[in-house]
Amino acid sequence: MKKTKIIIKTKSKSYPIYFGSNILKITGGLVKKNLPGVKKICIISDNNLPKLLLKKLVNSLKKYELSIYKLSANEKNKNIKVGNKIIEYLLKNNFNRSDCIIGFGGGVIGDMSAFISNLTKRGLKFINIPTTLLAQVDASIGGKSGVNSAQGKNLIGTYYQPDFIISDVSVLKSLPRREIISGYGEILKHSLILDKNFFLWLFKNGKKIINRENDLLLKKAIIKSCKIKCNIVKKDEKEKNLRMILNFGHTFAHGFEGAKNFSKKLNHGEAVLLGMIVASELSNKKKLLQLKELLLIKKHYLDLQLPININKTFNKKEINKIIYFMKKDKKNIDKKINLILLSKIGKVTKPNKISLNGNEIKKFLNSYYF
Ligand SMILES: NC(=O)c1ccc[n+]([C@@H]2O[C@H](COP(=O)([O-])OP(=O)(O)OC[C@H]3O[C@@H](n4cnc5c(N)ncnc54)[C@H](O)[C@@H]3O)[C@@H](O)[C@H]2O)c1
Repeated sequence: MKKTKIIIKTKSKSYPIYFGSNILKITGGLVKKNLPGVKKICIISDNNLPKLLLKKLVNSLKKYELSIYKLSANEKNKNIKVGNKIIEYLLKNNFNRSDCIIGFGGGVIGDMSAFISNLTKRGLKFINIPTTLLAQVDASIGGKSGVNSAQGKNLIGTYYQPDFIISDVSVLKSLPRREIISGYGEILKHSLILDKNFFLWLFKNGKKIINRENDLLLKKAIIKSCKIKCNIVKKDEKEKNLRMILNFGHTFAHGFEGAKNFSKKLNHGEAVLLGMIVASELSNKKKLLQLKELLLIKKHYLDLQLPININKTFNKKEINKIIYFMKKDKKNIDKKINLILLSKIGKVTKPNKISLNGNEIKKFLNSYYF
């Protein structure tokens, strides 16, 4: 498979993403080309990754003074205390602005590594090597860094763009199916909000993608998805307006994840898949989305056996908790809940246009699902 490069342009920085299969082994060459001044590198690595993957990365970086900080990737560890411990480690080892952090893992490691790179000495070099599908198509793109607080997810954070990203499909081989489906949710979201042709292509090829039958199709879906997100970030890096459309399905998802205490019972991507189908139902109820388009989306979910019934995951008693967390979403501007809905496949409502109060949403969830 040929290596493909696209450039992300944002107001603060332009930088490349390299896509391919088995390209971990050329990381050293890419560092030399893009960051010639780097001498020291610290890999912040997910502890759960297959050993062979880390070995491949380490082998390609032999020319550098290398250290590895291993961390178990989970939402509990994604906090400022753990972040501070890593920063202290870097300071103790005299990391300077010309030195480099590599985040090697899924979205948890990527978000934390970006945060740490940004805060240490006001900015170290940063390379993101996402190892989950979700991180390749979503979390690694756009420069949001962050950690969780006791008050909620990702409430402490900054924007910090990497110097480059390596997106290697071969690292996804060891990823559990549940995580592949989770990442597919974000690919599907990008098609639903902006690109009907891409949705129709996924409608045809989605099964092969989630079954990992064909790396070329997978790579194509990843690149297409990244391009959609890059175009949005290029126009609105700091989420002043347009970038909010990426929250389609996410306000419900936040409520669903919160109601399950952000536990592994429901991971982020599964919550997003449920959130998107609920938001599509609501779009139809509000007479924004035609029934035939809603049915097409539902058919795709059923064909691919994606999570679709919230009443399989929640009982009626949990609705209040869902609403409580939806109200806490950081994109709300008053007491109402701000939503992005679909007006057709490939088109969403304008940011800050639709807001509902908690009771309205509660009534809708009750009448539709319980
Ligand atoms: N910055 C952003 O714009 C953005 C966008 C979306 C999500 N996020 C954040 O991303 C996080 C979710 O990311 P995620 O879904 O990648 O979760 P994750 O990092 O927790 O990874 C999911 C699981 O897969 C395992 N894993 C990772 N790579 C693997 C591999 N190659 N083989 C086998 N197992 C592997 C991890 O150990 C973990 O158990 C959340 O914290 C979310 O807030 C950030």
